[in-house]
Amino acid sequence: MPKTKAGKRASKPPKKPRAASAPKVVGAANAAESAPPKPVEVAVTPAKGRPMLHWVGKRPLSRVRFFPAQHMEAFEARGAAPARAEDWAEWPAGYPKGGLLFHGDNKEVLGHLLASGFRGKMNLVYIDPPFDSGADYVRKVSLRGPKGTAKIEGETYSLGEQIQYTDIWANDNYLQFMYERLMLLKELMATDSAIYLHADPSKNYLLRSLMDEVFGQDCFTNEIVWWYWNKFQGNVNHFAMNHDTIFCYRKGLPPFHKVLEEREAIVRQLKRAWDPIKGMLVNVRDEKGNIVYQDRGEKTVDDVWRISMLQPADETENLRYQTQKPEELLSSIVGSSSNPGDLVLDCFVGSGTTAAVAQRLGRRWIAADINKGAIQTTSKRLQSIIAEQGEAKGTGKLPGMEAKDAPPAPAQASFTVWRVNDYDLAIQHNEAVNLACEKLGVERKKTDAFFEGTLGKSLAKIVPFGHPLTPVDLEEIKRELEARPEEDRPVGVVALGVEIAARAWVEDWNRLRKGIDAVNRFTVIDLRTDPKHGGFLRHEPARAKVKIARRKDTIVIEIEDFVSPTIIERLREQAGILKPKIDDWRAMVDYVMVDPAYDGNVFKVSVSDVPERRTDLVAAKYEIPAPKGETTVAVKLVDMLGEEVLITKHLEALRG
Ligand SMILES: C[S@@+](CC[C@H](N)C(=O)[O-])C[C@H]1O[C@@H](n2cnc3c(N)ncnc32)[C@H](O)[C@@H]1O
Repeated sequence: MPKTKAGKRASKPPKKPRAASAPKVVGAANAAESAPPKPVEVAVTPAKGRPMLHWVGKRPLSRVRFFPAQHMEAFEARGAAPARAEDWAEWPAGYPKGGLLFHGDNKEVLGHLLASGFRGKMNLVYIDPPFDSGADYVRKVSLRGPKGTAKIEGETYSLGEQIQYTDIWANDNYLQFMYERLMLLKELMATDSAIYLHADPSKNYLLRSLMDEVFGQDCFTNEIVWWYWNKFQGNVNHFAMNHDTIFCYRKGLPPFHKVLEEREAIVRQLKRAWDPIKGMLVNVRDEKGNIVYQDRGEKTVDDVWRISMLQPADETENLRYQTQKPEELLSSIVGSSSNPGDLVLDCFVGSGTTAAVAQRLGRRWIAADINKGAIQTTSKRLQSIIAEQGEAKGTGKLPGMEAKDAPPAPAQASFTVWRVNDYDLAIQHNEAVNLACEKLGVERKKTDAFFEGTLGKSLAKIVPFGHPLTPVDLEEIKRELEARPEEDRPVGVVALGVEIAARAWVEDWNRLRKGIDAVNRFTVIDLRTDPKHGGFLRHEPARAKVKIARRKDTIVIEIEDFVSPTIIERLREQAGILKPKIDDWRAMVDYVMVDPAYDGNVFKVSVSDVPERRTDLVAAKYEIPAPKGETTVAVKLVDMLGEEVLITKHLEALRG
C-alpha cells in the first residue's frame, strides 16, 4: 500500500460506510446569483507550441464561451466540522465552500470555471479521458435485495448493461477534443501545480506530444507505468497488454512527497540483470530448502506502479463502472503531488475515484462528467464518504484504520451538484441514440465522430434528444460538411422536435441545392411526429407512492410503493413470455434522499439513504425534525437505472 514520506500512508481506503442518516442542510440556494456578472467569452493563452503535432481540422483555441451553471443538489454531513478558513480564503464568491460536482461537457464546464474566478486555482489535475478505443462503455445494472427478491422462475434478475458513454472518434477529432481540454486545464492550473494524464498504449504517444505542445517539453516530469498484472488480456499472438501510462507534467514547483510501499516477500528469481540488485536482497530458504531471494520491507516507489485492477468480486470499492480506477492508484497521485487543503480537479471523473480520494485525504475537489450515471455514482459515493467521516469525527480516525494511519482531517464536509447546459435526459442519451439507430435502420459507423452512420444513401446525424432541432445544430452540420469537401451525400437529420426557424433554415439550404448542385441536401426526420419512425421513444416515467405527514415536531415519510415501467420492460424483454415477479418494490430503488425544506430549486440533501451493499434495501421510512413554519418536503428516489422521481408535499405550520 503506498505511503507518503511523512510516514502517513496515502490511505488504504476504509470500508464503505453505513447509510448516511439525517445530515443537515447546506446553506445558500443559488449562491451564484449574487456573483458579479460573468463575461460572455474568456481568453485562453496560446500553447507552447514546440514541438507541434498536426492533424486535419486543427483549430487553435484562443477563446472559450461562458455558460452559466445551475445549482441542482447540495449535501452536507450532520455535525460537520467547519471548513478550515485558510483553505478557502481565495475561493471565488458565489460558490459554497465544499466539493463541486458538475454535470456537463467538460469544455463548457472548464470555460465556466475560468470565467467564474477559478483561473490559476487548481493545485493538482488528474484526467482519465476516453481512449479512442471504439468501445461503448457500460455500467452493469442489477436490482437490489437478497437473491430472489425479483425473479423469473428462480433465476435472479440483472438489468443488463447501461451504456454510459460512447468512445468513438475519428483520430483527428479526438486530438482536437483533447487539445482543447488540455489548453483549458492549463489555464486553470496554479503557478506551482501538476497534471497527471492517464492514457493507454493506443493513444499515449499522441497524447504525450499534445502535452509537450500545450505545456512545453520542459514541463515533462514522469511517465508512470501502471502495471496491473491481473487483468487478462488476450496474449495468443502477442505479449499480454498489462499496463497503462500516466504522464505527469508540472508548472513551477508543485509539492512532491515520496510514496512508500510495503513489498512483501516478492521472490526474485530474475535470470537477467541479477548482479546489480543481488546486494539489495535477502536470501532465505523456500519450503524445499532451496535458497531464494526476497525483496522485503518499505521501498520508495519508482515510476512503475504495481497496483491490482479492481476485482469483480470486490463489493466494497467496485461500483461496476467499467472504467473505474482503483483508489490506491489515485491515492499515490493525490498523496504525492498535493498537500492537505489543496484543490484537486478531475473533469472526466466517471465513478468519482479522484473526488473520493481527495475527500479521504483532506483535499478540496472539483469534478465533472458529461454522463448522468457518472454524476449519480459520484454523488452517492461522496455522500457515503462524507457521512462516514462525520461519524468518525472526534476519534481522529476512519473506521477500520489504525490511529497511526489516520489521514488528514477532511477539507470539507459538503458538496454541491451543478449542471452546465442540459445533458439530463429522460432516458440515457447514448441508449436513446442506439435505440433510434436500431429503429430507423441506421448503419452505424463507429469511426466517424460526427455522423452516426448511414441511412440508405444518406449520412445520418442524430441531434441530441435533450432539445428540438435548432438552426445552431444545422450550422454545426454545415461546418462539418465544409471540413469534408469531398462529401457529396445527402444528410438525414434525426431529431426529437423541430423549431420553426430550423425548418426555414433547411428550406433555404435545400433551395440552393438543386439539379447538378444537389449535394448534401438535408431531410429532417422528427421522431415526435414521424408516422413511420416516431413513437418508440415515448417514455413512461417511474412513479412512487409516498406518505408525508407532520407528527408534532417531526416529519414522517413513508414510501409505500415504487414502479419503474422501464425496469419492468427490461425484465420483460429478458423473460420473454414469462411475467417478471418483484416481491419487494425496493429492489428497484437504488437510493432515497429527503429535503424537508425544499425551495423548488436546489435539492438540499438532509437524509440520504444509500444502502451499503447491493443486497441491502432502502429503509423506506424516515422520521426527521420538522421546520417550525410551513414547509415543502421533497423526497427524491433514484432507481437502479438512474431515473429520478421527485415527490413534494406542502405542510402547514405547526398550530399552537
Ligand atoms: C475513463 S472514464 C473515467 C473513469 C474514472 N477515472 C473512474 O475512476 O471512474 C472517462 C469518463 O469521461 C467522461 N467523458 C467523456 N467525454 C466527456 C466530456 N466531453 N465531458 C465530460 N466528461 C466526459 C465519460 O462519461 C466517462 O465517465
